[in-house]
Amino acid sequence: MKLLIKKLVGVAFAGIALSIAVSLTHATRTATASFDGNAAVLFKDKCASCHGEDGMGNTPPGKQLKVRNLRSAEVQKQSDAQLAAVIAKGKDKMPPFEKSLSKEQVSQLVAHIRQFGKK
Ligand code: HEC
Repeated sequence: MKLLIKKLVGVAFAGIALSIAVSLTHATRTATASFDGNAAVLFKDKCASCHGEDGMGNTPPGKQLKVRNLRSAEVQKQSDAQLAAVIAKGKDKMPPFEKSLSKEQVSQLVAHIRQFGKK
């Protein structure tokens, strides 16, 4: 009986250790993304499926959801705060990212969208 309990505790502990290891890896990865400041990678990873890598929205979900071209004047005329708010809070079909991205990452993405406007 004692042995069984020991075994169970062992298994539970291994499970906890594993989930801690997994969340640590995840945290490190997120932190690295923000440290690198590589907004292009972040955009490609989280946003390009709808908005397209070039921001023009020429992707199947982008066309279906009728996303605006992020290079267009109607998007670029909005303030940084407005764009950041849409990214963080979402808007209609645009999913909110405030839980999965830091404030810093959101501002990096806004800066990345501004780059679109200049090209
Ligand atoms: C599931 C598809 C989808 C994904 C993924 C997505 N978006 Fe969007 N996004 C939309 C849609 C749809 C809109 C238009 C919302 C509206 O105004 O109705 C939008 C709007 C926006 C706008 C406002 C532009 C405008 O139309 O005025 C910005 C800025 C934006 N997205 C940035 C991002 C960023 C940055 C990411 C990644 C972190 C992202 N989006 C990921 C679908 C998506």
